[in-house]
Amino acid sequence: MAKDVIIACDFASSEATMAFLDKFNDCARKPFLKIGMELYYAAGPQIVRDIKARGHKIFLDLKLHDIPNTVRKAMTVLSSLDVDMTNVHAAGTVDMMKAALEGLTRPDGTRPLLIAVTQLTSTSEDRMRNELLIDASINDCIVKYAQNAKEAGLDGVVCSPLEAGMVKEACGSSFSTITPGIRFADAAKDDQVRITTPEKAREIGSDYIVVGRPVTAAEDPVAAYLRCCKEFLGE
Ligand code: C5P
Repeated sequence: MAKDVIIACDFASSEATMAFLDKFNDCARKPFLKIGMELYYAAGPQIVRDIKARGHKIFLDLKLHDIPNTVRKAMTVLSSLDVDMTNVHAAGTVDMMKAALEGLTRPDGTRPLLIAVTQLTSTSEDRMRNELLIDASINDCIVKYAQNAKEAGLDGVVCSPLEAGMVKEACGSSFSTITPGIRFADAAKDDQVRITTPEKAREIGSDYIVVGRPVTAAEDPVAAYLRCCKEFLGE
């Protein structure tokens, strides 16, 4: 099972992103990068091509959620961008996830990894109950959504690192867990609540950790990235 550290490039323009990436020109490892909605909507698909041309792997985090036909067609467009990983909301149903997988699969049978968001880490059990009228516990909901993603043929889920063990138990060790909410033991939490360190994430069973501000806002982003790799991958 592949394991890696993914840097969340939460920047508002391609200029800011490229200035950040220039710092890694002499780095021994080429980081796996996450492009989210902010950067994609600001800079468009060209930012994906430009970053790909620099040799980085890309997780395109656009969290699609629509009717199956629309998601299938959108995924076909995204598959031509040659990213390495992308995602949908599991709440879109098994049919929508199957359609996403179909759309993402290229004529030669290859495709990026496809993962599902279960419940966002910003959604509390209280909000699930009172606003979404979901009576299950948040953990039962996360496990069921992960099982739905597995049934649809997806490769894994995005979840809190603290949920990775429970997802692995329900869906098997080869079902990937991609976990944001990572902080160094000696650092600020920012607005994240359910967090853990890179080392602990490895122990719990995360396959990919997604790290934003601990790297992007660090005084020395390359050193912070290499520290993540050392703690998470043991390299
Ligand atoms: O800066 P920080 O390390 O908190 O960034 C985490 C990244 O992971 C951000 O891009 C955030 O949008 C994303 N994310 C998250 N929690 C989720 C899903 C995605 O923090 N449940």
